[in-house]
Amino acid sequence: MDHAIEVAGVVKRYGDKVALAGIDFDVARGSVCGVLGPNGAGKTTAVRVLTTLTVADEGRASVGGIDVAADPAGVRGIIGLAAQDATVDGLLTGRENLVMVGRLNHLGRARANTRADELLEQFSLTDAAGRMVKTYSGGMRRRLDLAATLVSRPEVLFLDEPTTGLDPRARNELWDVLDTLVAEGATILLTTQYLDEADRLADDIVVIDHGRVIARGDATSLKRQVGGAQLHVTVEDPARREDAARAVAAVTGTEVTYDDDGRTVNAPTADGARAVAALAERLRADGIAVDELALQQPTLDDVFLTLTGTHIEDEEKDA
Ligand SMILES: Nc1ncnc2c1ncn2[C@@H]1O[C@H](COP(=O)(O)OP(=O)(O)OP(=O)(O)O)[C@@H](O)[C@H]1O
Ligand SMILES: [Mg+2]
Repeated sequence: MDHAIEVAGVVKRYGDKVALAGIDFDVARGSVCGVLGPNGAGKTTAVRVLTTLTVADEGRASVGGIDVAADPAGVRGIIGLAAQDATVDGLLTGRENLVMVGRLNHLGRARANTRADELLEQFSLTDAAGRMVKTYSGGMRRRLDLAATLVSRPEVLFLDEPTTGLDPRARNELWDVLDTLVAEGATILLTTQYLDEADRLADDIVVIDHGRVIARGDATSLKRQVGGAQLHVTVEDPARREDAARAVAAVTGTEVTYDDDGRTVNAPTADGARAVAALAERLRADGIAVDELALQQPTLDDVFLTLTGTHIEDEEKDA
């Protein structure tokens, strides 16, 4: 297998604090790897090691076959990084930012200008190109950030929480942009706190917690491990709750639980929308009136509960 990123036994300490406790994973060329973990898990630290912004205390890592410790300049030449905090300059216009990055990447004036215009177009920022970035929305800033990382056509892209803080619409727009990059064959490592985002974008997911890899796999296998999505049915008449529970159990074949409201029945299902359709059909046939019928996809917290037996804890708060 041809790997764009290889990480083996990487340890990083900050004084007594162990940010990475020995992580191993690799990323196939042309694939998208989602590094999924809660606040303080070590996501940014891993990105910093791989992008040569910090040096690991132990272990080895390479990007595009180049060792990050032996040849950091070589690595920097083939990567793009969109850091967790936006790095674009608010006092420049969007276009000026991209041209400046082009110039820093040794593109001539004409090439830097052309590249900036191409990227502004690709990221739907042409209309805002002449405005100072401090007037941009969060979503526009993140798109410009991403555009800036692409100026030099990197082989491998690192995106640290590309959609954190964005509203659902801006998040969807950014996902669409990332789809295009993936279709063009880029290798991408992105970090996220959201299972649905990793599910939407990544071929392979690495779950990290307290600086350790606690699970690996594609989204489907991770979701299967947590028992799939949850079906929720709220009946109109509390007297019909048991009838609804029987219907749910018949459709899912799994154990049902009840909410305190006396009207809601829940059960895990691996069948997704098919289970919803089958259940709706059956409830109608049984004449059970329903207030709500919902399918809730598992979250990172569900994954944690299954893998570690505990809910996500905020390490920053512990510290
Ligand atoms: N420069 C530093 N000095 C001291 N401790 C640090 C430093 N950078 C990170 N840490 C600690 O290392 C751990 C991992 O931090 P890291 O920033 O990699 O987490 P993260 O997964 O990116 O979290 P977030 O989702 O909040 O961005 C945390 O406990 C953090 O406090
Ligand atoms: Mg981080």
